[in-house]
Amino acid sequence: MTAAIGRPAPAKLNLFLHVTGRRADGYHLLDSLVAFAGQGDHIEAAPSDQLSLKIDGPFAAALSAEPDNLVLRAARLLAEAAGRPAQAALRLTKTLPVASGIGGGSADAAAALHALMNLWKIALPEDVLAALALQLGADVPVCLLGRSARLSGVGETLEPVALPALPLVLVNPGQPLSTPAVFKARQGPFGAPAPEAIPTDPTALVSFLAAQRNDLASAAIALLPAISDVLDLLQRQPGCLLARMSGSGPTCFALMQTEDAATEAAHTIGRERPGWWAVATRLTGR
Ligand code: C5P
Repeated sequence: MTAAIGRPAPAKLNLFLHVTGRRADGYHLLDSLVAFAGQGDHIEAAPSDQLSLKIDGPFAAALSAEPDNLVLRAARLLAEAAGRPAQAALRLTKTLPVASGIGGGSADAAAALHALMNLWKIALPEDVLAALALQLGADVPVCLLGRSARLSGVGETLEPVALPALPLVLVNPGQPLSTPAVFKARQGPFGAPAPEAIPTDPTALVSFLAAQRNDLASAAIALLPAISDVLDLLQRQPGCLLARMSGSGPTCFALMQTEDAATEAAHTIGRERPGWWAVATRLTGR
């Protein structure tokens, strides 16, 4: 009997996020540097004669295992593309806050695709898999790639970038934010893309990132002012090199000087704001 197959679903961070335009269908054109954190959800796929999903973990209650769950949609789309029945017992361990700008749902869908391709012993042509991932969501292709990359288009164009494994803190103010609502609330002209070359040296990278933006931050703050408090608090932590919102928010991250500084900051923030989610982790460095 085939054993269950487990795959990590790491949190995605937008180290910068420039909104450079909008397509005729309403989707926005982006220029973003995406990296992954050590912290994430987990997917397990076991053999079964039907398709099912069980959700556990600290954020399980925020999510339902209804058919429109992204993990189940991923399983059905993959089975259809491979011309086989969608049969698997899936388990999602949800340790990332839901609707929070760190791609939890996209990472789960990508991890489910990896686990199921392994379980079902199928391989799809790269372009078919890429199209399937994009159909599930703009962040799914980069999560499927699973390594840091410069993202453009609406999320379909990816260029891998090597990044240092910097320590980091993730903080979420405990309230969800709708991605479409944030894109809709964005105002003003579209921004310019970032310079072409991204430094790999940690000090140069932090200076480079400090000159870039998250073009969704002001719209997200207008919808959820607590994001300003998160950024202020992160910036005040000893050893904070740079604090930014990720994606459409509300989760923010701070790149930290040392691992100890990251741990200390997560403790301090967790103590001061008991309803918030604060964890110390690091960029995966790939
Ligand atoms: O692709 P995904 O389902 O993650 O996107 C959610 C919503 O975010 C879209 O319906 C769209 O309103 C907005 N979005 C966008 N441009 C992108 C990605 C997302 O406008 N590149």
